[in-house]
Amino acid sequence: MIWLIGNKGMLGTELSLLLEKNGMAFTGSDREVDIANPAALKDFAEKAVRPFTWIINCAAYTAVDKAEDDAETCRRLNVDGPGNIAACAKDIGARLIHISTDYVFDGTNTRPYREDDPTNPTGVYGLTKRDGELAVLEHNPRSYIIRTAWLYGKHGNNFVATMLRLMNERDEIKVVDDQRGSPTWAGDLVELLTGIIKAEHRDRKLPYGIYHYTNRGNITWFDFAREIYEDGRRLGLVTKDCGVKPCTSAEYPAKVKRPAYSVLDKTKIQAALGIDIPTWDETLIKYLRLLAQGQGLRENLLYSK
Ligand SMILES: NC(=O)c1ccc[n+]([C@@H]2O[C@H](COP(=O)([O-])OP(=O)(O)OC[C@H]3O[C@@H](n4cnc5c(N)ncnc54)[C@H](OP(=O)(O)O)[C@@H]3O)[C@@H](O)[C@H]2O)c1
Repeated sequence: MIWLIGNKGMLGTELSLLLEKNGMAFTGSDREVDIANPAALKDFAEKAVRPFTWIINCAAYTAVDKAEDDAETCRRLNVDGPGNIAACAKDIGARLIHISTDYVFDGTNTRPYREDDPTNPTGVYGLTKRDGELAVLEHNPRSYIIRTAWLYGKHGNNFVATMLRLMNERDEIKVVDDQRGSPTWAGDLVELLTGIIKAEHRDRKLPYGIYHYTNRGNITWFDFAREIYEDGRRLGLVTKDCGVKPCTSAEYPAKVKRPAYSVLDKTKIQAALGIDIPTWDETLIKYLRLLAQGQGLRENLLYSK
């Protein structure tokens, strides 16, 4: 039995749908079981109809700029929360999959970041996510930490949704062209997460520890926006002309400096699971086609592969 924590967030909703589709038994929780409260976690685990053998934690404080003025809450959710979940997992004998981020790095690398590269977060969000990783490993060594980046999906605020909205509203938009990363569809990431569980049952158990997973290839936000526009226009998701122009990060001052380079090296997880990782552009077109086919249709589930 799987306990999916953060089941109402962008990634958590996507994962619920896939678990349901795969017939994998699970229970979800979100804010009603506060991850910063160890007693609430313990109580929930004890009341489960069947013992949890896996916990997947998709809950987090994810408002990157807001975190700068709200460090205490951010730390409660991104450090204390994962530490509590890991301790609870250990108590009940469950394995834990926890999600982390490219923001643990400072973005100064010139080659893709490997799992053992030194971390150096530049803001409160990245710092708390890094400390959350340490808390997980300290409290339950039977844990997997999956770092991902540039996530988008149907069930939350994200770059693709924002771009489609702005492109339908404005005649021109400017998008930063000096930050490079790998756009990642939540639908591909949740396949990976369930793949880790299935691999264990097929005797291809992944060694515990930290892994990187994003879609393959890398581009700037501007390149990504241009592709969203071209595909969106062809598929009727963007219904009018809109100029997409490059700009620098300096033109869009934010509280937290985003990593200029946040490409993650995925060799470790690819080799361990023997998987092929879809490229960002093949996945984007698939995602946009699904959106165009039937927005809001639950049965669409985004998994009609
Ligand atoms: N989005 C990205 O681009 C990105 C990139 C790299 C890594 N990640 C990581 O991926 C994971 C999933 O991200 P996401 O975008 O799906 O996040 P999300 O949409 O913000 O979902 C997080 C969920 O956690 C819930 N939550 C908040 N406080 C809680 C608490 N005290 N107890 C239990 N649940 C609580 C949130 O509820 P409310 O909505 O009511 O607050 C929300 O439903 C996170 O670990 C994030 O750091 C995300």
